[in-house]
Amino acid sequence: VETIREPAELRLILDRVRATGIVGFVPTMGALHAGHETLCRKSVAENDVSAASIFVNPLQFGLGEDYQRYPRDLAADQRLLQESGVDFLFAPDAAAVYPPGFQTRVIVGELSRPLEGAARPGHFEGVATIVLKLFEMVGPCRAYFGEKDFQQLQVIRRMVLDLNVPVEVRGVPTVREADGLAMSSRNRYLTTEERTAAPAIYQALLAARSLAERGVLDPDALLQEAHRRLEASPLIKPEYVALVDPDTLRPVVQPGRSAIMAIAARVGAARLIDNIMIRPPDSRPSAD
Ligand code: PAF
Repeated sequence: VETIREPAELRLILDRVRATGIVGFVPTMGALHAGHETLCRKSVAENDVSAASIFVNPLQFGLGEDYQRYPRDLAADQRLLQESGVDFLFAPDAAAVYPPGFQTRVIVGELSRPLEGAARPGHFEGVATIVLKLFEMVGPCRAYFGEKDFQQLQVIRRMVLDLNVPVEVRGVPTVREADGLAMSSRNRYLTTEERTAAPAIYQALLAARSLAERGVLDPDALLQEAHRRLEASPLIKPEYVALVDPDTLRPVVQPGRSAIMAIAARVGAARLIDNIMIRPPDSRPSAD
């Protein structure tokens, strides 16, 4: 994998590729894990040339969040990208991304407000701004995002549609540890004890889904079930448990609609998020 620091150099190389082929792009903040590897391998399989970016974006971290201590390990990340078959790593310096006097922001309206937007004011403004900037630097491409950050995926899809950005956004299912914990760079903050407790978040989502599959469709009952499961784990401090419409992210109040159940919880020094699609029994894909 060839590492490029300058946006203009990246654009030049990828413009040459685009004369005959399609560029795949995986934006990341580094501290890569098997979830990122899946995004990279998909990009490599589906495109002629693939680029990944690593940039820990200060604009999407709030005051008191983990910007300073966010894990950074460029050498390990380069090895993972190399093994995944990615051609280019774009790792710009902060000065190349945010020039002196920078003052422009991208705001995606309603989709940015609930859930993570409410818990982390300004977060999606930071995400949308950096992702649009990265798309400008990379140029037309297919871009890959994990479904663990479901709201982020929807915000980016909306931005691309609203601003005529020539990028095809592809969502990729969440990759999990053997015990169900969603892969996340922030899992590195967990102590051994916390790591053992953390899969309860996914267990809570599964419990709610299994209740729905057995015909219990009242949103309050599903939310209560998830809360009950989380409360059994004293190391897990839920921030929110929500059942929302997958397209609008508004709360689902009517029983029997397909919905995303999303959870954010503190586990020690880590703030973890996860989600699952919950479908009423008659709308599930059939086995054959
Ligand atoms: O999901 C992430 O890693 C980041 O939010 C992203 C999309 C790379 C923007 O900084």
